[in-house]
Amino acid sequence: MSFQQCCFLLTVLCRATGTLNSVAWYYQYSVPVLQLSQFDVVVVSPSSNLNPATVTGKTKYFAYASLGEVTSKEPYYKDIPKSWIVASNDIWGTYVINVSVPAYADFFATKVVEPQWTRGYRGFFFDTMDSYERYAMTSADQAKQQVGIVNIIKAVKAHYPNASLIFNRGFEIMPQVHDVVFAVAFESLYASWDNAAKKYVAVDPDNRSRLLAKVKEIKELDPNIPFISIEYCSPTPANNTCQQNAIENVKAHGVIPYVADGLLMTIGRST
Ligand SMILES: *[C@@H]1O[C@H](CO)[C@@H](O)[C@H](O)[C@H]1NC(C)=O
Ligand SMILES: *[C@@H]1O[C@H](CO)[C@@H](O)[C@H](O)[C@H]1NC(C)=O
Ligand SMILES: *[C@@H]1O[C@H](CO)[C@@H](O)[C@H](O)[C@H]1NC(C)=O
Ligand SMILES: *[C@@H]1O[C@H](CO)[C@@H](O)[C@H](O)[C@H]1NC(C)=O
Repeated sequence: MSFQQCCFLLTVLCRATGTLNSVAWYYQYSVPVLQLSQFDVVVVSPSSNLNPATVTGKTKYFAYASLGEVTSKEPYYKDIPKSWIVASNDIWGTYVINVSVPAYADFFATKVVEPQWTRGYRGFFFDTMDSYERYAMTSADQAKQQVGIVNIIKAVKAHYPNASLIFNRGFEIMPQVHDVVFAVAFESLYASWDNAAKKYVAVDPDNRSRLLAKVKEIKELDPNIPFISIEYCSPTPANNTCQQNAIENVKAHGVIPYVADGLLMTIGRST
């Protein structure tokens, strides 16, 4: 069986057996496993106090992993050659990595994913997959970065064929990797968080249409990929209207909602 066929079968099996109805992102250090047990999947920070090897019940815990950026707080930051860093993201205080560096694929699989696999995580949420758009401006340059990202995904799957992967966007590489994807997430069909201004804002209809067009395009490619939209509404004081509208509107598009605060530090709602 080829690499592609093998991963495809595993992922289809995963998707079929692990019916995905509800998801959460929860980035606090202390993970309240009991309260989160209502969700099928919960994405947590790998530096949280969760010990994934001891979790029982239906909830699958996924470890957050930043694919295209790194902060100096990461344990593997010191091992990243400075020449791989090509830009910085001032809003979040992170460094953008040149994802087309061939050696980065194996680095990511062994230095970023492997320590979490060893701890017991079997699912991973890959964030910052589109950060190359900050330094690759021409379409030829962007195509090279996309090849780099596909190679990173393949390296992870070569090391860990059973790993379940949720992508944050990564729409452009979907033709190459849809077979190995557990779910595709994106942010804000309706309710957004402006981290620079520190406020909740409604999404422009144009932005929503662009996202829904991507969803449609990928569903045509692979009708079985679950999509998740992370929506942001004020938790305190709780904007119940914002939460309820986001849940209902997102579901109406056949997308799984998760609604929480802008920094994903509180337990939100998915149903
Ligand atoms: C990114 O890495 C590729 C491959 O090593 C290299 O050709 C390119 O010049 C690098 N880009 C930047 C902006 O450093
Ligand atoms: C992958 O999962 C299958 C089915 O659950 C299991 O039989 C196999 O041992 C796993 N392989 C690895 C490398 O963990
Ligand atoms: C809408 O999209 C534009 C252009 O991509 C972006 O700058 C803006 O932040 C988005 N606004 C909202 C509220 O989604
Ligand atoms: C609650 O959210 C809605 C959007 O769903 C918004 O129009 C409204 O201004 C928000 N209310 C408050 C008090 O922020």
